[in-house]
Amino acid sequence: MKIETNKSLKDYNTFGIDVTAAKFATITSENELKDLLSSNENKPVFVLSGGSNMLLTKNIESLVLHIALKGIEVTKESDNTVLITANAGENWHDFVQYCIHNNFGGLENLSLIPGYVGSAPIQNIGAYGVELKDTLVSCETIHIGTLEKRKFSNKDCLFAYRNSIFKSELKGQYIITRVTFRLTSKNHNINTGYGAIENALSKESITKPTIKNIADVVIDIRKSKLPDPNKIGNSGSFFKNPVIKIDHFNKLQNAYPNIPSYSIDSDHVKVPAGWLIEHSGFKGKRWGDAGVHDKQALVLVNHGSATGIEIVEVSEKIKTTIKEKFDIELETEVNIF
Ligand code: EPU
Repeated sequence: MKIETNKSLKDYNTFGIDVTAAKFATITSENELKDLLSSNENKPVFVLSGGSNMLLTKNIESLVLHIALKGIEVTKESDNTVLITANAGENWHDFVQYCIHNNFGGLENLSLIPGYVGSAPIQNIGAYGVELKDTLVSCETIHIGTLEKRKFSNKDCLFAYRNSIFKSELKGQYIITRVTFRLTSKNHNINTGYGAIENALSKESITKPTIKNIADVVIDIRKSKLPDPNKIGNSGSFFKNPVIKIDHFNKLQNAYPNIPSYSIDSDHVKVPAGWLIEHSGFKGKRWGDAGVHDKQALVLVNHGSATGIEIVEVSEKIKTTIKEKFDIELETEVNIF
């Protein structure tokens, strides 16, 4: 297998940050992965999947493993369900389109999310009322140090809002090689709960949506708000939506009667960080090539040749202002290296 040296990672991260990898290997089989890990003798490795949820702030000195394992397998489970296993290097959106094309339901609300199948469980990707954890059955992994294979069930993954065991307790320890989902092959559970989906369907007078209708509507909504990483570098939502106490929210609502919120439990609500950032005057702002998207303030963007550090500086300005103005601490959703 070829190991490249001093390779630019600009085309391997959706923020389009131009840092280099001292050593870079593209992994196309599990055997290659095991061989490389064992010859690397437990030195640190940097696992690179679709590069869609990371911000690179410096050159990577450790061996970069670009996980490009391909392949999809389907087994019929019952009259209504299939088990579908995708290798980690499959492009997420292409995989979702494959499911829609074969009339397998469950992932349609997660259309057009950048990245690969293998990184989707790490932050439990979610959009328009659906999260990965709703259909994931298991993740197959290899331990970076011992090379032991381990299968994590849905429960083992400890999924939470934009979080999992792979982003917390076991961070950096396992490489996800395959992910299995349980999808419907008929009687699909169509999820139109998210306001924007309902509005778009009624505009088109669709009363009994198919999974393809949902996917198409989600694609349109995302295209209208979120920048295409092939045109403007970004990693989707840069921050998580914060959860705050009701008392705190009530005070904010007195000052800002239009502040949106989603109920969490009797003591807490979630507030959209995009709204907080927009109402602090950051939407569409730009410092050199680093800035805030003009249609979705939760998305930080690289207009061309911003460095990772410059994007971090923008994020720090936003965090400080949101703390001062709303007394809320924003938590970063993107992994910063
Ligand atoms: N809003 C503003 N200004 C903005 C952006 C949003 O006022 O600039 C308001 C909207 O008007 C709306 C609310 O904030 O009232 C929520 O906005 P939106 O529906 O766009 O969703 P979001 O909370 O900003 C979350 C996810 C997205 C996901 C969408 C749709 C997080 C961190 N982000 O964004 O996920 O696509 O909901 O489900 O939970 C991602 O994780 O990378 C991502 C894009």
